[in-house]
Amino acid sequence: MATFHFVEDYERFVAELVRTHPIDTAMSLAVGGSFEEVGAIECEILIHAGLRPGQAVVDLGCGSGRLAVALSRAVDISYFGLDVVPALLDYARTKTPKSYKFVLNRALTLPIEARSVDMLCAFSVFTHLLQAESYLYLEEAHRCLRPGGRVVMSFLEFALPQHWRIFAQTVSTQRASSAPHLNQFIERNQIDVWAERLGYDSVAFIDGPAAPWPSGQALGQSVAILIKAA
Ligand SMILES: C[S@@+](CC[C@H](N)C(=O)[O-])C[C@H]1O[C@@H](n2cnc3c(N)ncnc32)[C@H](O)[C@@H]1O
Repeated sequence: MATFHFVEDYERFVAELVRTHPIDTAMSLAVGGSFEEVGAIECEILIHAGLRPGQAVVDLGCGSGRLAVALSRAVDISYFGLDVVPALLDYARTKTPKSYKFVLNRALTLPIEARSVDMLCAFSVFTHLLQAESYLYLEEAHRCLRPGGRVVMSFLEFALPQHWRIFAQTVSTQRASSAPHLNQFIERNQIDVWAERLGYDSVAFIDGPAAPWPSGQALGQSVAILIKAA
């Protein structure tokens, strides 16, 4: 079975945060910080992308539940979160309703029935995976989605000056000869090609700094919405 390539790195990172910070701070930092604010923005993005009450949502790379907490306050859905770090999943369980399911999954396949999901999201996940890994997850997502279902994925792209700063930092770390955290950029034309190859019907993009939803708060990363044909 194919497996994720740097689980140990993430586990070490989370363990160090837990050792050096109060638990809520550690669990927020482990997913990039601003737990409440970013969770609320991610939730708004899903609603903007078409999420409706009663739908089944898969949160790939759910982390410590930043999005799950916001979703549980905003919309009545069936929720399934997947991640590679048990400590993050344990924390997420304590912050969300009992009906929310969290499962450890370190495979490049998804433990989900075909055509059973309305929306699969991956926020700040493909930014840390190799491109072939992201492609495999998008292939799996297509299998799991119902007709008309959607993938909502965030990504970093070279065209945006805000994202270039992240690349510049990565280059500095590399120059100092310490292995940087993987920050994988994905260009829109790649996502278009992947979507076409995998049989998605269409793709829509939202710029990182744009926020066409009610709060007007931007996520920072760009967002792609891939739609499976109805
Ligand atoms: C930057 S955090 C974002 C967490 C969450 N999506 C959010 O926005 O709050 C990235 C998460 O992806 C998880 N992750 C990394 N690789 C993964 C994989 N192959 N499958 C599932 N989760 C993964 C990490 O453990 C981490 O929790």
